[in-house]
Amino acid sequence: MTEPAATPPPLALHEALLILIRLEKALPYLDELYRCLSHDEVERAGRFAFEKDFQQFVLSRGVLRRTLGHYFDREAQDIKFDYSPYGKPSLNVSAGETPICFNLSHSYLLALIGLTNAAPVGVDVERARPEIITDDLIRAVLSPRERVQFTALPAHHRAEAFFELWTLKEAVLKAIGSGHTLPMTELDLGLTQEGPKEARRISTKPGEDWSAITFWPQPDYAASAVAKGHEMTFRFLEWDRQYL
Ligand SMILES: CC(C)(COP(=O)(O)OP(=O)(O)OC[C@H]1O[C@@H](n2cnc3c(N)ncnc32)[C@H](O)[C@@H]1OP(=O)(O)O)[C@@H](O)C(=O)NCCC(=O)NCCS
Repeated sequence: MTEPAATPPPLALHEALLILIRLEKALPYLDELYRCLSHDEVERAGRFAFEKDFQQFVLSRGVLRRTLGHYFDREAQDIKFDYSPYGKPSLNVSAGETPICFNLSHSYLLALIGLTNAAPVGVDVERARPEIITDDLIRAVLSPRERVQFTALPAHHRAEAFFELWTLKEAVLKAIGSGHTLPMTELDLGLTQEGPKEARRISTKPGEDWSAITFWPQPDYAASAVAKGHEMTFRFLEWDRQYL
């Protein structure tokens, strides 16, 4: 007899739940997760040229559907998504249903899901390979002030500080939903060598406050999450097959 699936914790009002998925742990359930996908997702999955991209998409989308299915007491394949003009998926909910917000990111072997009860949320995870930090990338990511701060950092702190700020900016853009249509260089958040912090507050424009956290799920992956509101806290959960 199979164990009934465990339910992820309830979503508190001022809390963002961050679910880290080690994709290798989900790989044995690839077929099962593939069967949760909608027709358009199956079509998209079929267009990936590389098996690893196919797997990353199916595993992360499938776990996302299963997770949302738990919260709505619905089959994963019955979850319906809407898409913003910039491609950000959101839940198509009926009146009276909890307006759960979510965001997803994946990079190589990891995926990260952020979930909140109604607060816009953005997440980003990146495999942190220092050799990809070129002058072009620095110019594409950092504001002029941050570039000065970057150069002033001791050389051995630069890569870490860069990936922390890069994932933070990606998470902000994904929370706003604008994707890369808003240049990252226009977000001037400041670069430090202090390393990951407790949740911090950032402001993207007057009156628009966000709570943010940056962390290293493992030594070679940086991640950030951002949720709207100045008093959000972050709760961490590592995905396990008990949540299938
Ligand atoms: C959103 C974006 C920043 C993601 O960047 P990335 O680092 O390559 O990818 P990540 O793994 O962090 O995130 C991908 C996930 O973010 C979500 N996503 C897609 N578009 C998004 C957006 N505009 N905002 C927030 N999240 C988005 C999806 O769940 C996606 O997962 P999927 O690829 O499995 O569907 C990038 O794709 C982008 O700039 N998109 C906007 C493009 C655009 O303007 N399109 C307009 C025509 S559709």
